[in-house]
Amino acid sequence: MKQDENIVWHTQTVSRDQKQAHKGHKPVLLWYTGLSGSGKSTIANAVEAKLFELGCHTYLLDGDNVRMGLNKGLTFSDEDRVENIRRISEVAKLFVEAGLIVSTAFISPFAADRAQARSIMTDGEFLEVFIDTPIEVCESRDPKGLYKKARAGEIPNFTGISSAFDVPQNPEIHVKTAEQTIEQSVEKIVSYLKLNGIIK
Ligand code: ADX
Repeated sequence: MKQDENIVWHTQTVSRDQKQAHKGHKPVLLWYTGLSGSGKSTIANAVEAKLFELGCHTYLLDGDNVRMGLNKGLTFSDEDRVENIRRISEVAKLFVEAGLIVSTAFISPFAADRAQARSIMTDGEFLEVFIDTPIEVCESRDPKGLYKKARAGEIPNFTGISSAFDVPQNPEIHVKTAEQTIEQSVEKIVSYLKLNGIIK
């Protein structure tokens, strides 16, 4: 007998639409992707703070923190990165169903995994935010000293050095952090949400 044979989806009494109507904005997933040190967490935090100030209901799932809890024990092998992103996308989907504006800040280097995350969401609710920062800039920032270690051969499978990063081909929002301030990046993202009727 297959393990999931006796599991039946239960339709809930309070609908998704009812939950959303409470919130005063549309629920979406802002899926930040970019190299380590590109500024994903910084910008995602600043956007969340701005949205909170505007009265939105938000939730932020952030790379290193999630790897300390839900995804503790997953490595940076290709296989574990796929599982990392799979779990995050499922959790994010639940928060979106609860009516929130959810942000995820993970390298999410593989295009196939980002496409998979998009595919489990309702149309229009997955917004890919490419935090586009050249590797030279990330490396010069090196906030956690990891590029230095990776160059010294101390960290295997390091994204951009010894592991791939598939550049997003068609992100909904494209942020170039080397060319604009954090405030300008935040403004670009918040403006997108306003222009597309997600927030007021
Ligand atoms: S992902 O590739 O699986 O999406 P995730 O965003 O969860 O990565 O974690 C990336 C963070 O883990 C980086 O910002 C960095 O602090 C740390 N890290 C540790 N080892 C690696 C590695 N080999 N490659 C990339 N980041 C690493």
